[in-house]
Amino acid sequence: MNIIDGKKLAERLRGEIAAGVVGLKAAKGIVPGLAVILVGDNPASVSYVTAKEKACREAGMLSREIRLGADVQEAELLRIISDLDSDPEIHGILVQLPLPAHIRSKAVIEAIAPEKDVDGFTAVNVGRMLIGDKCFLPCTPHGILKLIEFSGMDVAGRHVVVIGRSNIVGKPVAVLLSRKETNATVTLCHTGTPDIARFTRQADVVVVAAGKPGTLTGDMIKEGAVVIDVGVNRVPDASRPKGFRLAGDADFDSCSKVAGAITPVPGGVGPMTITMLLWNTLEAARRSAGLC
Ligand code: GUN
Repeated sequence: MNIIDGKKLAERLRGEIAAGVVGLKAAKGIVPGLAVILVGDNPASVSYVTAKEKACREAGMLSREIRLGADVQEAELLRIISDLDSDPEIHGILVQLPLPAHIRSKAVIEAIAPEKDVDGFTAVNVGRMLIGDKCFLPCTPHGILKLIEFSGMDVAGRHVVVIGRSNIVGKPVAVLLSRKETNATVTLCHTGTPDIARFTRQADVVVVAAGKPGTLTGDMIKEGAVVIDVGVNRVPDASRPKGFRLAGDADFDSCSKVAGAITPVPGGVGPMTITMLLWNTLEAARRSAGLC
């Protein structure tokens, strides 16, 4: 059984991205800039954006950090995004989700110029992805494709079962895996699927993005299957200094006894999500220079 080391792959790709940043600066005098907007102080979101900003600086990019109170008005947030849309130092804009209930997430996402939408969340980028046009691929699904490739599994002609139909992970990963260049046969299971195990037992690869620990257990997969665990759940654990530990959506102990390869949590999909954000930001900066 192999542990798919997302940290290792992320480090390798971040090295390539950092070299790309140096090259772009030398060729065009451009430093890729990423604006990261956080509204409120949700602990998980604070931890994610801090990691994104650190990775951005480590790759030699400009990180513009914008922290707003949970009571910020939607109009103020839209004004800030509009300023960033026309700011030549900024090539990528990321608004960390979820947003407080009084703000319309859809209106905020759509305010981001598609050419700076490095999360790949705008309707324009989602539509382009669906029809196979050039776009920014959403970071977690893109990272998952890289991890599956890194695991040594060629998914062409294989059966991939995705659990979860979120706009951020489940739906786009199903679309990307079934594209001609990847050529997998994809089944998308969700909360309306009776007996998910009936499908996962047939799968060569299971991508579990359900947001619930213990969604996938060893008895639900076939011998040698590849398990990609997207879940990041805080499970209470009094023995830990912070009072919790991170657990994925897959039950690691039972799945790792049956799987051929599995991503750990932490250290699997998470580092790849951030890496693909850097990838998109470099790509956005290159495009602004007319390089691709
Ligand atoms: N919240 C959870 N995942 C993500 C992500 O990939 N991007 C943003 N902006 N917010 C998130």
